[in-house]
Amino acid sequence: MINTKNVLMGLVAPVALLGLLAANPAAAREPFTKAELADQNAARLAAVDHGRDLWHGSLGSMQSNGLACGNCHPDAAASNPQTFPKFQADLGKVIPLRDMINWCIMVPQAGTALDVNGDDMVAMEAYAFALYTGKAITPGLATKQTTGINVGSGVGYPKKGSGVGYDTEK
Ligand code: HEC
Repeated sequence: MINTKNVLMGLVAPVALLGLLAANPAAAREPFTKAELADQNAARLAAVDHGRDLWHGSLGSMQSNGLACGNCHPDAAASNPQTFPKFQADLGKVIPLRDMINWCIMVPQAGTALDVNGDDMVAMEAYAFALYTGKAITPGLATKQTTGINVGSGVGYPKKGSGVGYDTEK
């Protein structure tokens, strides 16, 4: 037997939803204009640029031994950001990229970790990902980690540095 109450409810719900959408035109927003997209990209590139400087030694608290990320990961080499989150053997658990960045700040560079939610950390990630654009996302295992490459530059090393901050030729 047809339940009239159910049929009525089945009609009321979609009609009410339509009414709600009509009353709230902002439910589906307009696409961004080209100018807005350009502004958003400029903001992203500013973060990438700040990340490049941090990566190459513009913040002294990130080290206490004269090393910058760029000494072992020139141009974010061998940082493989697209493989995170993954298991990190030294920490014994699955970690996001920002924890790996802080690990390298605290261990090889003997520095002070960045605030994981701060603008500097966002910039570090923005820089790494910008240089890995187009790489397939392939979260991996510790056994697949490629180690940093010592390029022999910066204060901790004698050769040519990146020209930013403490990671410069001395
Ligand atoms: C003295 C050399 C050295 C410096 C300086 C250094 N790293 Fe590393 N980095 C390493 C080594 C070695 C590993 C591999 C560690 C492991 O697998 O447990 C590594 C691994 C990484 C990884 C993971 C790579 C992967 O394939 O999973 C990231 C990301 C990373 N470093 C970022 C940084 C950042 C950011 C900095 C600067 C704050 C930095 N590193 C500074 C040596 C260095």
